[in-house]
Formats: sequence, C-alpha cells, structure tokens
Amino acid sequence: MTREEIDRLKAQIEELKCKTAKEVEEARIRFLGKKGELTRLFEEFRLIDKEQKKEFGKVLNELKQSATAKIEELKEMAQGAAEALMPKEDLTMPGDPYELGSRHPVSIVRQEIVDIFRKFGYDVAEGPEIEDDYHVFEALNFPPNHPARDMQDTFFISSGHLNPLLLRTHTSSVQVRAMEKMDLPIRVICPGRVFRNEAISARAHCIFHQVEGLYIDEGVTFADLKQSILLFAREMFGPETEIRMRPSYFPFTEPSAEVDVSCNICHGKGCNICKGTGWLEIMGCGMVDPNVLEASGIDSKKYTGFAFGMGLERIAMLKWRVNDLRHYFENDMRFLQEFDTAIEV
Ligand code: PHE
Repeated sequence: MTREEIDRLKAQIEELKCKTAKEVEEARIRFLGKKGELTRLFEEFRLIDKEQKKEFGKVLNELKQSATAKIEELKEMAQGAAEALMPKEDLTMPGDPYELGSRHPVSIVRQEIVDIFRKFGYDVAEGPEIEDDYHVFEALNFPPNHPARDMQDTFFISSGHLNPLLLRTHTSSVQVRAMEKMDLPIRVICPGRVFRNEAISARAHCIFHQVEGLYIDEGVTFADLKQSILLFAREMFGPETEIRMRPSYFPFTEPSAEVDVSCNICHGKGCNICKGTGWLEIMGCGMVDPNVLEASGIDSKKYTGFAFGMGLERIAMLKWRVNDLRHYFENDMRFLQEFDTAIEV
C-alpha cells in the first residue's frame, strides 16, 4: 500500500459519475464491495507494521467515509433523475372529456325530409353510387345520344360498350330499381350522393346530395303531386309556406315542373336570398312518363305516378343561409360547429 495508490483511488472516487442506479451499484461493488478496492486495502492494512498503521489508518478511514458518502450522493442523484423522467400527471384528475361531434347540415336536412315523407307513408330506398347507363339514363327515357343527357354532365367509369358504368348523376336510378323490384303501389324516397362533372364554385359542386321521391298507384294525378309537395313544403319551411309550379322539362316526367316555395326570409317582399322575386326554387317534379313505367314492366294504362327530386345542399343553404356550397365539403370545424345546436336528441 502506498500513498499514491490511496490518492489515486480517492481521485477516482471523487470523479465518479453515474447515470443510473445500476451504475451506482456497480461503483459501490467496485470500491466498497467484499472484493472491492477499499476492502482490499483494509486487508493489506492488517498486515503492515505499526509505524505504517499510524500513517495510513486515518487516511484509509477518511477514504472509506468519503467513498460511502459519495456513493450515497450518487444513489440519490440517480433516483432523482429517474423520478424526473416519470410522468408527472395527477392520476386522480378526471379524464379529458371527449368532444361531442355534431351532425353535418346536409345530414340534418336529409333526416328532416326523410321523417316528413315517412309520415306520408313513404319507404326509404337506397342504391349503388356506381351505376350503369341503363338505370341512370336509358330506363328513364334518355335514349342514347339524346340531348337531355347533356343536362347532367356525367363521370364515366367504363366506355366503349352499350351499358357503360358511371357515377350516378341523380338518385332517379334508385327509383328505377324500386320499380323493377317492388310491388305496386310504390311509395319511396331515395336519399343519396350524386356526381356531376361540374367546375367547383360557390354555386356548383361535382358531388352533392339528393332526395328523390316516387309514388305510383292507380289514379295518381297531378293534383296529388301538387298537394303532396305543398304539404311537404309546409312541414319543411313552416305552415305559412306557399308553393308555385313553373313548367319545365325532364325526359322521365310529362308534364314536368319546377317547384318554388315562398321566401321564408322576406315573406314575399323580395330580399337578396330570393333575388327580389319572393320565391326560392327547391325541386323538380312531374308525372312519370308512361315510357318509364313500361321500361320497368309497369302497365302504364293501369298505373300513373309522380316523381320529384331535390338537392339537399340547396335546401340547407336556404335554411341556414349558407352562401357557398364548398363549405359543405371542406370539413372546417368552424363551419361544422355552427350546427351544434341543430342536433335534436
Ligand atoms: N332527377 C332530376 C334531377 O336530378 C330531378 C327530378 C326528379 C325531376 C324527379 C323530376 C322528377 O335533376
């Protein structure tokens, strides 16, 4: 045992750095353990002569004390570091509440319309968004190359054969499927998403939603159509609402009409929503063309019917005075949250 040896050990212990409790324990074993450096020195100490014992006794004891203190200090530091890494949350705190979503305005309007027609005895029918030319056009009295096909600019999925696949441009295709499948009389409404190849702007979008309706029975007349639409309009827009019909054209109805409701904002006086006319256009309708009935195997001598169709974004626009169609599709929370209060539980 030499003075240098002891000084070297002392310096080593002073400079010890440990990051984890495991490293501290390893250092303790290395210096203070049963086979540690200090233990070895104490063993040597027993064998040295009296003179030397005087010299080394005190230094060795001091070294042991400072080593023990150092290890203790390192142990505490490592524990502190480990604790600092532990999550600090107060585990007794109540959890973060889930934010409640709200229904989309288009979905709210669809539900309202569906509820009204359910009361009138209509069933809800759904059909595919990817349709064939037959169900979207052909069976609805749009012969190939008929100019009326240009009224609905179509996204085709396949081409080059007689019955190409396409994205439906209206849910009248679901009405065709209903006429093919259902027993008479038929009373259905067909809500759904439709697609038209239109440039996106504040007033037009390539995707929008419709609810179309169909009623076929013996002796259904235009008067039934008019009364049904009037009742619907009053349920939807308020009991004071009036309707008017303007002649129009659709290949699948004859006669055809466009329906306006009296402006529920200015009550007919004229405002910027109704562009000063006092009327708001809400849907197309008409008596089902006999060709359409026959195409789906319904005897047009015995049965008559009416059909109507409306755009949900447009109705929601009128209801909440939304001025840009694009809002419906952008999922901007600030817009969607406007309808929070519209949820009816
Ligand atoms: N299918 C027509 C459209 O999408 C709307 C309509 C339905 C018109 C039924 C008349 C009868 O424009």
